[in-house]
Amino acid sequence: MYTTQLLPVMISKKILSNVESKPYFQKGDFVLYHGDSLNVLAQLPENSIDMIFADPPYNLSNGGFSVHAGKMVSVNKGDWDKSKGFKDDYDFHYRWLEACKRILKPNGTLWVSGTYHSIYQCGHALQALGYHILNDISWFKPNASPNLSCRFFTASHETIIWARKDKKGKHTFNYEWMKNKEWPSDFFKNPNKQMRSVWHIPDVEDVWTVGTPKREEKTFGKHPTQKPLELLRRIVLASTNRGNIVLDPFTGSSTTGIASIMNGRKFVGIDTTKDFLELSKKRLLEL
Ligand SMILES: C[S@@+](CC[C@H](N)C(=O)[O-])C[C@H]1O[C@@H](n2cnc3c(N)ncnc32)[C@H](O)[C@@H]1O
Repeated sequence: MYTTQLLPVMISKKILSNVESKPYFQKGDFVLYHGDSLNVLAQLPENSIDMIFADPPYNLSNGGFSVHAGKMVSVNKGDWDKSKGFKDDYDFHYRWLEACKRILKPNGTLWVSGTYHSIYQCGHALQALGYHILNDISWFKPNASPNLSCRFFTASHETIIWARKDKKGKHTFNYEWMKNKEWPSDFFKNPNKQMRSVWHIPDVEDVWTVGTPKREEKTFGKHPTQKPLELLRRIVLASTNRGNIVLDPFTGSSTTGIASIMNGRKFVGIDTTKDFLELSKKRLLEL
């Protein structure tokens, strides 16, 4: 068993020395790799990571339109978000989830977020790989874009599945924190009552538009699917302890990494897009 005191040594010597490619950026316990996560994950030792948060491509950049701040906007996020067809998309989700299972510690957990475009494929792959599903969180976004066709409901939530590596195991859940800490932005959370599986957390776009104090989340530029820091803070506090190692295989602007470092955890992030790693770097250096 690793002790908390040995973790800084472990992250640099044991974990990172196995990775052939040099980190794109490292400062203290925050490490970024540039590359395909399937390649990087394959080089990490098995049973070495406490928690994984993954926000994989949604495969929804199909040329459609939506409305934002009263204007028509393309839904396209980038080439990385284009669907390659049902089978290839599913194979991709299966392969990265398989690679994550190998590196998770026996009691480790994985969170995966997505919309209906991707989350059911991820859920199927999780079960096929023998993960044990703990919760499916419904993250309610108060300012969702309207449905342009007016022929079905406005999509106003994302699903976040939380799963343990194996059926048997003792995962970390900081129950008291979730129940008793103050969560002022969440009108579904009653003080001193259990945290529900429906979370009300404004999206980064919402807080940007309405001008609440979270404007600084995009000070350094924009990731097209940047997650709110408050969402990742809750996930990190719920499922890890100080000194734990958190990994994000699709790190983007590294919201997961920022929430991890701010709360005394260690972080490894991977992304194929250098611009997003630059954004991550700036966010970290600003802390
Ligand atoms: C949905 S975004 C993640 C956004 C992130 N949660 C944030 O808060 O900024 C998915 C990211 O995965 C990256 N990506 C796509 N395919 C990848 C792959 N095979 N390996 C590593 N990163 C990949 C994209 O460049 C994109 O930044």
